[in-house]
Amino acid sequence: MAGDWISIAREDELTPGQMKRIQVAGQRLLLCNADGKLHVVDEMCSHEDYSLFLGCIQNGRIKCSLHGSYFDLETGQPTTEPADAPICTYPVKTIDGEVLVQMP
Ligand code: FES
Repeated sequence: MAGDWISIAREDELTPGQMKRIQVAGQRLLLCNADGKLHVVDEMCSHEDYSLFLGCIQNGRIKCSLHGSYFDLETGQPTTEPADAPICTYPVKTIDGEVLVQMP
C-alpha cells in the first residue's frame, strides 16, 4: 500500500545538477535535480556503503564517485559496472512550490 506524501523541499531550492540530502522515515535519501526534473533515490550506492551525494548528476543519471557506476534516476537501475543492483526510487510531486515524496 502506498504511503503518505511528505514535504521535503521547496521547488526552487535546487538548480539543475544539484542534490540535497534528506532523511525521511529514518531513511537517507537524495533529492536530485536532473535538468529540471526532480527525483528522489536512496542516498547510498548499492555496490558498497558509499554516499552518492559525493558523486554527480549527468544526463538523467547519478554517478557514484567511488567506483564510477552510474544509476538511472528514473528507474534506479545501474547502467555501468561494478554496481549490479538497483537503488530505490520514490515517487515525487510538486504542489504549490512544495516538493513531496511518497514513501512505501
Ligand atoms: S561504491 Fe558505488 S560503485 Fe562502488
